[in-house]
Amino acid sequence: MKKILSLILVATMLLSVLCFASCGKKDDNTLLVYTEAGFAPYEFIYNNEIVGVDIAIMQAVAEELGKELVITDVAFDTICTSVQNGKADAGAAGITIRPDRAEQVDFSIPYSSTEQYIIVPASNEAIKTLEDLKGKKVGIQNGTTSDMLIADLIADGTLAGSEIIPYTSPAVAAASMNKQDAVVTDKLTAQLIVANDSTLKAFSLVKADGTPAAEVEEYGICVQKGNKELLDAINKVLEKLMADGTIDKWVEEYSAKAKEVGA
Ligand code: ARG
Repeated sequence: MKKILSLILVATMLLSVLCFASCGKKDDNTLLVYTEAGFAPYEFIYNNEIVGVDIAIMQAVAEELGKELVITDVAFDTICTSVQNGKADAGAAGITIRPDRAEQVDFSIPYSSTEQYIIVPASNEAIKTLEDLKGKKVGIQNGTTSDMLIADLIADGTLAGSEIIPYTSPAVAAASMNKQDAVVTDKLTAQLIVANDSTLKAFSLVKADGTPAAEVEEYGICVQKGNKELLDAINKVLEKLMADGTIDKWVEEYSAKAKEVGA
């Protein structure tokens, strides 16, 4: 009896070890990519499917590697940590390359650039510059560069008394405009949000003196630190897609698709 029991125990342990290595996680034939799909034109839902510039890029990378692409939609602020821990092979989510993030993960070469935009109700004449956000409620997507920018400006007193209202995506934030005075997010995403909603308008977030409120940002794909093989493949694909104008073409194509479905 004892023998049988210990045999069963050993068998279960063996099975769970095997499962740990392969179940519910990436395997050698798949390229598991984490994104947050509320960020048109880079990733959004179209006909019940996640599509966008980042997805098209990663599809090209998967083809280059001869693997099957698997895209998983997660909270934006978990992507880099999951890639760092090896839960996902890569993160493709319009992720701005930043030194603090580069301590966690390795970034590809930049493939797009952006700046911070502000969205306010179309009828609003009071908020025109960064300083006008002082004491106001600002909606942002959790863990994004917009979140960090506004948090830093509250901390250094520039936006004394302002409050951050966190959301899971910029589109969700903009859809709840009555809960805040403005939403801050990346340029193209902001422009698409207002293209689909005539009650809103968007413009570049500048200081009262006309200079940008934040530096230009560049997007990169992230991989686990030291995953040179995957990073090399991504960079090779990106170089080609940028050189022949494919990324620009995809930005237009997916912007049109996003407008079509109001993403
Ligand atoms: N570029 C910004 C950042 O890195 C926002 C990216 C949001 N991306 C998304 N898929 N929701 O923080």
